[in-house]
Amino acid sequence: MAFPPAFIDELVARNPIEDVVGQYVSLRRAGANMFGLCPFHGEKTASFSVAPDKGIYYCFGCHKGGGVINFQMEVEGLSYPDAVRALAKRAGMQVPEDEQYQSRYRQQERLWALHKEAARFFHAQLYAPVGKAALEYALGRGMSKSILTTFGVGYAPDGWDHLVRAMKAKGYTDQELIDAGLVTVSQKDNRKIFDRFRDRLMFPIIDVRGNVIGFGGRIIKKDSEAAKYLNSPETLIFNKRKNLFGLNLAKKSKQGFLILVEGNIDVVALHQYGFDNAIASLGTSLTEEQAALMNRYADQVVLIYDSDNAGQNATKRAIPILEKAGLQVKVLQIKDAKDPDEFLKKFGADRFKLLLEDSSNRVEYQLNAIAKKYDLRIDDEKVKYLQESADLIASLPSAVQREVYGARVAEHAGISGDAMKLEIGRAFKRRQSREKKKQEKIDLSPAQNLQPKSRTIRYDNMKSAMAEESVLAMAFRDPSLLDHAGALRAEFFSSELLGRVYRQLVLRHTQNLEVSPAVLEELSAEEMSHIVGITQRLQGPAGEQAFADCVRIICAEHQAASVSSEDDLLALQNRLKERKGMKE
Ligand code: CTP
Ligand code: MN
Repeated sequence: MAFPPAFIDELVARNPIEDVVGQYVSLRRAGANMFGLCPFHGEKTASFSVAPDKGIYYCFGCHKGGGVINFQMEVEGLSYPDAVRALAKRAGMQVPEDEQYQSRYRQQERLWALHKEAARFFHAQLYAPVGKAALEYALGRGMSKSILTTFGVGYAPDGWDHLVRAMKAKGYTDQELIDAGLVTVSQKDNRKIFDRFRDRLMFPIIDVRGNVIGFGGRIIKKDSEAAKYLNSPETLIFNKRKNLFGLNLAKKSKQGFLILVEGNIDVVALHQYGFDNAIASLGTSLTEEQAALMNRYADQVVLIYDSDNAGQNATKRAIPILEKAGLQVKVLQIKDAKDPDEFLKKFGADRFKLLLEDSSNRVEYQLNAIAKKYDLRIDDEKVKYLQESADLIASLPSAVQREVYGARVAEHAGISGDAMKLEIGRAFKRRQSREKKKQEKIDLSPAQNLQPKSRTIRYDNMKSAMAEESVLAMAFRDPSLLDHAGALRAEFFSSELLGRVYRQLVLRHTQNLEVSPAVLEELSAEEMSHIVGITQRLQGPAGEQAFADCVRIICAEHQAASVSSEDDLLALQNRLKERKGMKE
């Protein structure tokens, strides 16, 4: 659903980007712009910039950028409409919504509220007399009372209508309970409803906005026939494929990476032991949507699935999905325990931490691998071992690391630390000259260099795309240039994305609305970052002449392209004719 453009303009105007960003990042003014530490990637020097006059932000480190709405989306992990709503609330504005949307949203809000009540009810039961066995079970499995509170763990009593009665007393209807998936409808007994979850330890599933959207209920009786877990069905507010257990908490973690495990219990145990970045999928194998969701909060994920066969197979399936989403994946294999929960109980948090560091510390592993290749008693091999290790160590970004590992290798090979330092220095120079050559090569092939950094945006016609970029950059700076665009149409753009943006600019300009990256719609975070990146890169003067030149190039390239596709059609026709002729 699109919002009226004039409303978006007012929304953007009433939410100054420096104020909104300032709620998350401490900004310092430097000239017209402000700088701070990027909230989207870990950094120690400020490469995150905000341009209050243009209403945009841009990070020179991770190349994320956009207007105030995108910032709200990225930083809180919201959809476009939800970000708009949040900003409207902030500025005390009424959101114009269409009827259908409003009623759907109202229904959602009602289900969220019902789930919250249900979670409260279950949690209270855990500490009531009926919950005695459940509480004992939870504590017996090592969960602390405080972690039970953090996760809102509860108990669904054995019986048929405990929840039904409690929720009806709060004013919820049968239909609402059915829509929420909290009850089952009896086919025989006059469509009577009864509690879906009975005698189970209840884990609320909470989305990144903090709404309870469903439950996972674990059986507590031993030797029960029933399935170990019973989960909420898909509802208006619950989609298993798009949510992750624990992400509402893990998104606030300062660790900078996520730990993905299989079980709810593993997540709870990890958080209890201080690993507040653990999450799990919801009983299905990992989906692309979940990977994309994770990618919003971290660049890296450590995968720790159960040590059984099923877990190992799930690991193999998950890796490509995570990598495709842009995440860096590390796999951690646990030994002598079936899952992280058991590992923590058996060996404690420190051992687990070591394991984690190990998984992220490839250097040690690689150095060991090199050492295994050579017999250090033979001088020749020893030299090779030292050279290869020096190469690896020279590639490390930190001087401290180079020092530490250099010393270790020297000791292992029985040479002096100074000799090793010399070797690493030489390897370092070799590396630098290799990199320089590589860079020269790139500089010589401009087309490669100009391709967008993002993998999802590709330019097919580089010449046209460069002109298209310039047209947009100039139009953002001086919208009146759009009056000189003449016959230029969005369809002429070789890049679908740039064309789409151009169309919006023209539309806005003719309606006397704001023309700025901050008000663009229908753009993904990547696309938005790319557009803002263009405006950052192309800051040259915007004049009528330069603008007209670019327009000419785009039109000419478009014409050339359509002629050649007409040629193709002609050729195709001829080929078909020939084939027909052969048959006759
Ligand atoms: N699961 C499910 N339905 C089942 C079994 C499992 O939905 N019948 C999901 C649950 O989300 C569960 C996850 O798969 O958390 C992993 O399963 P499992 O390892 O069996 O559960 P844990 O939560 O780890 O519990 P426990 O340690 O008691 O085995
Ligand atoms: Mn498990």
